[in-house]
Amino acid sequence: GTLSINAATAAHALPSDFFGLMTEDINHSGEGGLYGELLQNRSLMASSSSPASWSAVTSTGGSASIALDTANPLNSALTRSLKVSLTSASAGNRAGVANSGFWGIPVKPSTTYTASLYAKAAPGFTGPLKLSLESTGGTAYATATIPAPTTAWKKYTVTLTTAAAAPSSSTNRFVLSSESASGATLWLSNVSLFPPTYNNRPNGLRVDLMDRMKALKPSFIRLPGGNYLEGNTVAERFDWKRTLGPTESRPGHQDPWGYWSTDGLGLLEYLEWCEDLGARPVLGVYAGYSLQHDVVPLDQLAPYVQDALDEIQYITGDVTTKWGARRAADGHPAPFSLQYVEVGNEDWFDTTGSYDGANGRYAQFHDAIRAAYPALKLIATTAVSARTPDVLDLHNYRSPGWFNANANAYDTYSRSGPKVFEGEWASQVGRPTPTLAGAIGDASWLTNLQRNSDVVAMEAYAPLLANANSVQWNTNLIAFDASTSYSSPSAYVQQMMAAAHGDQILAASYSGTSTVNQVVSRSSSTGKYYVTVVNPGGNPQSITVRLTGAGAAVPTTGTAVTLTSAHPSDTNTITDPQHVAPVTTAVTGLGATFTRTFPADSVTQLTIG
Ligand code: AHR
Repeated sequence: GTLSINAATAAHALPSDFFGLMTEDINHSGEGGLYGELLQNRSLMASSSSPASWSAVTSTGGSASIALDTANPLNSALTRSLKVSLTSASAGNRAGVANSGFWGIPVKPSTTYTASLYAKAAPGFTGPLKLSLESTGGTAYATATIPAPTTAWKKYTVTLTTAAAAPSSSTNRFVLSSESASGATLWLSNVSLFPPTYNNRPNGLRVDLMDRMKALKPSFIRLPGGNYLEGNTVAERFDWKRTLGPTESRPGHQDPWGYWSTDGLGLLEYLEWCEDLGARPVLGVYAGYSLQHDVVPLDQLAPYVQDALDEIQYITGDVTTKWGARRAADGHPAPFSLQYVEVGNEDWFDTTGSYDGANGRYAQFHDAIRAAYPALKLIATTAVSARTPDVLDLHNYRSPGWFNANANAYDTYSRSGPKVFEGEWASQVGRPTPTLAGAIGDASWLTNLQRNSDVVAMEAYAPLLANANSVQWNTNLIAFDASTSYSSPSAYVQQMMAAAHGDQILAASYSGTSTVNQVVSRSSSTGKYYVTVVNPGGNPQSITVRLTGAGAAVPTTGTAVTLTSAHPSDTNTITDPQHVAPVTTAVTGLGATFTRTFPADSVTQLTIG
C-alpha cells in the first residue's frame, strides 16, 4: 500500500487540549481505588442494617461484639456509629474490631500510614487502645496506641510505620483493640487509614494510579460522571455541596454502580486530582435527570441551576465570592481554570423529552451559565434545537472491528454544527481491561478523531479505572487491586498518541488492498513528522510512505514506537502487567519516500526527525 502525505500545508491544527480522561466512581475506581482511604465503610454509613466491612476481633481469652448504633451519632452527617462491646479483654487477651479494607489492605516496607478516628466510651473505660496493621494471620507490621477514650467524642490521629523487613502484601487488616477494658463499651466513627498519597496531599490519592494517569498526559478530566453524576434518583445525584469540608462532615451517598461512596473523593479532591496531573476539569453539572427516569419538573429546576452556578463559582471564583471563599476555607485559595461545562449526562435517556425545548432543562442551564460566565464553553449531552451548545458529547462503545472499519467516520461529519466531544468511548473486548485487539480498535478510532480534530475538539476513553475485585463494566483502561496496578494495551495506545504528535494535522490518504488506518501530524516548532499507522489485519503490511511538498529535506532518522504481540487476544493482567507494552527503537532509512513493513496486529508511531 501507499501512504501519501501532503506536507505542503497543514490541514488544520490538533487542539492542545485534545487528549483527556473521563472519570466517575465505577468499579470502585474512586472509593476503594484512586481515593487513598484504605478502610471500607469508615463512616459506618454504607448499610442501615449492619456495621458492614467491620468484624469483632477476639482472641483466646478476649471477646467482643459489634453493632451499628443510631443512638450515638458523631454529628448530623454521620448518623450511625460503631458500637463495640468489649465483653472480655485482659493482658494478652485482646478484644476489638477489624476492617479488611477494599479486598485487602496494602502493606509496604518502610512506609508510614496515618490513622485517624473519632472515639468515645461509656464511663470508666480503662487503658489505651492499640491500632495495628497486621496480616490476616495476626503478624503485626505496624502498631500505635491511643489513650483511653472519654465519654465525649474526640478525634485521635496517629501514625503507624512498617519496618524495612515488612513484606509487600495485601492480605492484611486493620485492628483496633484493647487488652484491659473488660466489660467496657466503646463507640467509633470515621475510622480512617491512609498510606502516603500523591504529592503528600492530606485526604489524597493513590500514587501508582496517579503515575499511570500522568503518563497519559491528559489535558482535561471530565468529572464526576457519567452515571455517577446523575445517581439512580435525584436524591442520589453527585450533590457537590455535600462533598466538601472535613470528611466527617460528608454524609456520603449511594453510588449508582452498587456501592457506598463516602464522598471522601469530593469536588475539591477531583479538582486537585486535575491540578496534580496538569489537567483542567471538564465539569459535568447535575441537570435534573437521574437514571431511574427521575426528572426534576421544569418549574422546579431553578435551585439546581443555582447549584451549578455556585459550583462554577466554587471552582473559578476568587476569594471575594461566596463559594470562592468556601474553596479557600477548604484549603485551596487559588481558583481553578475551567473552560468547559457539560450540562447533564446522556440525556437522550430522558424519554420525557425535558432536556430540549425553549424552557427545557438544557435551555435553563445554558441561559443561566451563559449570562453569568460568558467565556465558558457549554457542552450538551444530546442534540438540542432550542439553543446552540458549543460542543456535543457523543459516546461510542463499539467492537474493535467496528472501529477498524469506521476509522473514516468523521471525515464526512457536518462542519456546520457544534464541535464534538468524544466524551466516552472504547473498543470493547476484554475484562477488566482490553486486549491488544481492543487497543488496535482504539488506535484506529484515534486516527479518525485526530484527523478530524477540526470538528472533534477532544476525546476521553471510558471507563478509566477498575478495581479488579469489583468490576461493574467490562472493559476499562487501567486496573488495580489493593497493592498493584497495570496499564492495559489501550492505555498504552492513549499514552503513545498523547506523547507523539505535532500541532498540525497533515492531509494524508492510504491506498492499498487491506484496511490500514493512519494519521499524520507535524510539529510547527521542531518540524518533526509523526506518522501513526494502525494495521488491524493478521498480515504484515509493506507500505510506501510519500511526503510531498515538504519544502526542506525530510530527515532520514527517527524513532518507532510499536505496540503488538503474538495474538490479538493477548492482554495485560495484575500478574503479567507488561505482556503487551510499547517498544521504542531507533530508525534509519526514513525521508520523503521510504518503504517499511508494519507488523500484523500492530500500532506503530514513527517520529521522523
Ligand atoms: O462509562 C460507563 C457509563 O456509560 C457511564 O456512566 C455512562 O455515561 C455511560 O452510559
